[in-house]
Amino acid sequence: MAMQTLLVLPLLLGLARAAPAPAWERVGIVGGKEAPRNKWLWQVSLRRHDRYWEHICGGSLVHPQWVLTAGHCVGPEIEETSKIRVQLREQHLYYEDQLLPVSRIIVHPNFYSAKRGADIALLELQDPVNISSNVQLVTLPPTSETFPPGTPCWVTGWGDVGSGIPLPPPFPLKEVKVPIVENSLCDTKYHTGLTTGDSIHIIQDDMLCAGKKGRDSCQGDSGGPLVCKVKDTWMQAGVVSWGEGCAEPDWPGVYTRVTNYLDWIHSYVPKEP
Ligand code: ARG
Repeated sequence: MAMQTLLVLPLLLGLARAAPAPAWERVGIVGGKEAPRNKWLWQVSLRRHDRYWEHICGGSLVHPQWVLTAGHCVGPEIEETSKIRVQLREQHLYYEDQLLPVSRIIVHPNFYSAKRGADIALLELQDPVNISSNVQLVTLPPTSETFPPGTPCWVTGWGDVGSGIPLPPPFPLKEVKVPIVENSLCDTKYHTGLTTGDSIHIIQDDMLCAGKKGRDSCQGDSGGPLVCKVKDTWMQAGVVSWGEGCAEPDWPGVYTRVTNYLDWIHSYVPKEP
C-alpha cells in the first residue's frame, strides 16, 4: 500500500504539471500566480459603493496622500467622492478591509475613453497613510525612460483570470511577468484582421503594450500598476487600461504610458512626501 502511494504520487504530480493548469492554479490575472505577501506594497483596490464596497479597479500609491489609477475607473463623468474608497494592499481582497475616504478625484482633462488615450486619474486621500513595512510608495520613472522590450515588467491585480472568468475566493492578489511589446509592433498586431488603415494608429504614443499569449492583465485589473525593474528600482511604467480580450496572442495588454503624464501628475502630487 505504502509502496503504491509512493509510486502513484509523483505520477499524479507529473500529470498535473503536463496537463493545463488545474482550476486552483488558474486564479488571478491571466497566467499569474499569487503574489508573495512582501511584494507590490503600493498596490491598492478602488471600491465603489453599490450594494457593498465592491472592487472596481486597481491603483497604486505614488505619495502618502495620492493614488494613481485609470481615467475609465472614475470617469469621464466623475464619480462622487463619497461613493469611492481606497483599500491599501491586502493579500486577500475583502478579508481585512479598512477603507480610506477620498477627498478629490481628478481625471485627466483629455480623457474620454480608454482607446482614445489619456486614461489616467488621481485620487487624493482625505488623510495621508503611514508608510510601513506593509505599505510602500511606487517610484515614478524619469521622463526619458522608454521601457524597451526586454525590460523585466510585472502587472498585479485582483482582476479576472480569463476573459469573463472572475477571480475566485479567497481573492488573492495576483502577479504575472509580461514582456514589453514595442509600440509600432503592437500597433501592427492590433491591425491584423482589421480593415483599419495602418496610417490610423490604434496604439497611441501615450500607450505602452505588454503581454503575450496566456500572460496579461484583464477586467478588474484596470487602474493597477505595470512596474518594471530599472537599475534595481521598481518603477511604474504603465497603468492597466485596455485590451482586446485578455491574454490573446495578437492583442497584448495596453497601458497608459506614465512618462507621458509626469508633468500632469506633478501638477497635483508633491515630489517629496
Ligand atoms: N479595461 C479593463 C478594466 O477595466 C482592463 C483590461 C485590460 N485588458 C487586457 N487585456 N490587458 O479592468
